Amino acid sequence: ESGANIVKEGNLTVCTHLPYEPFQYKESGEIVGFDVDLMDLVAKDLGLKQSIVNTPFETIETGQAMNTGKCDIAAAGMTITEERAEVMDFSDPYFDATQALLVKKGAGYDSLDALSGKTLGVQIGTTGEQYAKDNAPEDVELKVFEDLALLTTAVKSGSIDAGINDNSVLYDYVDQNPDTEVSTEFDTGEQYGFAVAKDKNDELLKSVNDVLASAKDDGTYDELFKKYFPN
Ligand code: ARG
Repeated sequence: ESGANIVKEGNLTVCTHLPYEPFQYKESGEIVGFDVDLMDLVAKDLGLKQSIVNTPFETIETGQAMNTGKCDIAAAGMTITEERAEVMDFSDPYFDATQALLVKKGAGYDSLDALSGKTLGVQIGTTGEQYAKDNAPEDVELKVFEDLALLTTAVKSGSIDAGINDNSVLYDYVDQNPDTEVSTEFDTGEQYGFAVAKDKNDELLKSVNDVLASAKDDGTYDELFKKYFPN
């Protein structure tokens, strides 16, 4: 029996933001994904049942969702940043990412400079949004989207010229939408972490880190990796 602080008895309440395939997305009405499976391992370890709460990414990345007790933990393909670490406590890193550019196949935009005078879609509250703000030429028009699906669909339909987001989710999208492509990656060296309320849940964090470590040791992590990232 662990001393983890839990908002709803018997449950591991997990905040996420859908869809972020293959980390969290709906398949035949069920929420599945790499993060979901990892959180199932944690819930099982604690004798709890995972209960997922879908909430805007801004409420997660500002720490609000965890700090106000809306959920015990966030699992949202979220990058560990110094700024975020001031308002939440992160687990050990569990996944590597960089930013990448999604375009229609053959569009030829293979850098932020190439988008001069064009439109670039970003997802609100993300490291991709920040990267675009910091690095895109001034005459690139940033269009802000609430979620990944809205952003990728806008690229596919041609209503924006390019979209920036994490490499793994964009490669997953391109596999399913061969009329789009990832034209370049920006080496941002990001790492994902699960996050709990600031200074309130060392016990839960310890369980998460233990589960991550044993999943890496015993091959479970690799199995899940192959399941969700087959290419
Ligand atoms: N890794 C990026 C970030 O932390 C994007 C995460 C978006 N996640 C989501 N579930 N919508 O800013």
